[in-house]
Amino acid sequence: SKAKAAKLRVFRGTAAGGDFQNYEVETYPGMVVLDAIHDIQAKQSPDLAVRWNCKAGRCGSCSAEVNGKPRLMCMTRMSAYPEGEPITVTPMRAFPIIKDLVTDVSWNFEMAKKIPPFKPRPRDADGNWRMQQIDIDRIQEFRKCIECFLCQNVCHVVRDHQKKEVFSGPRFLIHLATLDMHPLDTLDRREMVKRDFGVGFCNITKCCTEVCPEHITITDNGIIPLKERIADDHYDPVRWLLRKVAGK
Ligand code: FES
Repeated sequence: SKAKAAKLRVFRGTAAGGDFQNYEVETYPGMVVLDAIHDIQAKQSPDLAVRWNCKAGRCGSCSAEVNGKPRLMCMTRMSAYPEGEPITVTPMRAFPIIKDLVTDVSWNFEMAKKIPPFKPRPRDADGNWRMQQIDIDRIQEFRKCIECFLCQNVCHVVRDHQKKEVFSGPRFLIHLATLDMHPLDTLDRREMVKRDFGVGFCNITKCCTEVCPEHITITDNGIIPLKERIADDHYDPVRWLLRKVAGK
């Protein structure tokens, strides 16, 4: 059978400026957008910059916007788009462009460094840690995060409000929720969650949840409960005191 061709419009440029370049690639069954980008690199524009690693949806490196929607390029089938219409591939919008499809995501790693790590209580006398299954189940889905930063990219508080100093974005609120809900953790980060990570700025539009390639229920299972835990503390001094006495 004759190979089909697909049209791509790919952003080429740097922080100083850029433009779209049109390409045509031959498609094949199962082809993903990252394959098309690699094909362009191999045959047409060897200097096209793209970040990737696993090609299996595991490393979170190949985040970009395809037809304006945040996607992992390696998990996005070419066949998902209407035949004959150009597919537009652009770098993530919330982060500074380095070159072509590669953005500078170092702000995320700076945020990560600000979060005090897991601090477990001592083991039981027999050397084990005991936890309730229900407590494990609550945080298990959060651990699927591959740090693709698509949730950060799509969050309009991050995108539009220049709050990168005071708002950590959904990925790190999820990390903070994981720690706060962890049955073994002893560190109280709740004041910090408000003050340094800006949980109050999230207005629950759930854009993050919609784009998560791991289907983590970021807003309903992570951010809203985190907000509630902090609010409970705030409005219930008895609860606050008991928690403080209990060391959590
Ligand atoms: Fe690793 Fe796409 S290349 S997630």
